Amino acid sequence: MAARHGEWRWELIDALRVRAAASREELAALLSCDGETATALLRAADEVRAERVGKEVHLRALLEFSNHCRRNCGYCGLRREHRALRRYRMSPDDIVACAGEAVRAGYRTVVLQSGEDLWYSAPRLAEVVRAIKQEGDVAVTLSIGERTAEEYRLLREAGADRFLLRMETSSPSFYRALHPDSDWESRLECLRSLRRLGYQVGSGVIIGLPGQTIEMLADDLLFLQSLDLDMIGVGPFIPHPATPLADAPAGGLELALRFLACLRLLCQQALIPATTALGALAPDGLRRGLQAGANVVMPDCTPAYYRRLYELYPGRRDLGESLRQARAAAEELVSSIDRRVARDRGDSWRAGMLSAVRPALLAGGDMR
Ligand code: 5AD
Ligand code: SF4
Repeated sequence: MAARHGEWRWELIDALRVRAAASREELAALLSCDGETATALLRAADEVRAERVGKEVHLRALLEFSNHCRRNCGYCGLRREHRALRRYRMSPDDIVACAGEAVRAGYRTVVLQSGEDLWYSAPRLAEVVRAIKQEGDVAVTLSIGERTAEEYRLLREAGADRFLLRMETSSPSFYRALHPDSDWESRLECLRSLRRLGYQVGSGVIIGLPGQTIEMLADDLLFLQSLDLDMIGVGPFIPHPATPLADAPAGGLELALRFLACLRLLCQQALIPATTALGALAPDGLRRGLQAGANVVMPDCTPAYYRRLYELYPGRRDLGESLRQARAAAEELVSSIDRRVARDRGDSWRAGMLSAVRPALLAGGDMR
């Protein structure tokens, strides 16, 4: 009886795999499944990952260069009202030195991430990007939050290849409740600007925030698919004690994995990381993410004394203390599950097209 009960969901998984499409109700059913059905969902995502993007796992060196933030997101430990937090900024020279070390350790992508910190003006950051691009054939990804289209353009012209900006939720009203000082529409407009400028664009959501229903998460999946992204990063909510959501329960690991699996089935060619937040919830979180659709890992390469101050949420598990140790641990993880570390930059499948049409896009145009 139990197997029969799950049967229509199994058919749904097969259909989703072939069509890469599902309704909100169907996705809600998959997000809330368990037992053998959940196992089948994760397995299908793993198979689609293998068929569509292969065995290779892309490693990105994550460099958290500043924990200053002008914003006050309800869930985040870097929010400006967390006044007890010691704040740091790496100097432009230090950022470049650290990125250079990552390149020499074998990384082909450096992700520069920070809170929204305007101390790093666009021209200042553009210098950093230019210097990193001289270190070798390396892609630079920025994850620095909302800026003007003009600033994004300056950074793109300096050589930045990719940009990560999570929408956090597909619901404008839910977004407003969590973000007192920004709005959903202008964030979406940022993504449109980035796409127009020829960046490879990444976005994502948080899974399991208090007040978020399964139906909202199904909407998030459809929304992320509609954005036609190059990269999609999602992770479970983890409460931080210095935020208004301190007492809320964490998002579940299993729910996050089912979300990840649905994402792979909907966005079959996307670059999807097994995120740090997954790793924070369980010792085998990263591995399980890689086996439920993910094909990217972002080892933290921030110098250790800054790293512990970059606390978006507590309980983060580092792959290794030094940049080289982290890389070695990531390589070991990848080979332990019979996968391979990619040697190329791991650009989006549409990167060639983006650079070909970039001049036209820079002159203005539509998001797609
Ligand atoms: N739990 C989970 N994810 C979080 N982020 C920030 N705070 C938390 C938290 N408490 C995520 C946001 C942000 C990314 C850098 O980290 O999605 O975009
Ligand atoms: Fe700042 Fe990003 Fe944290 Fe929001 S999520 S407070 S923008 S660092």
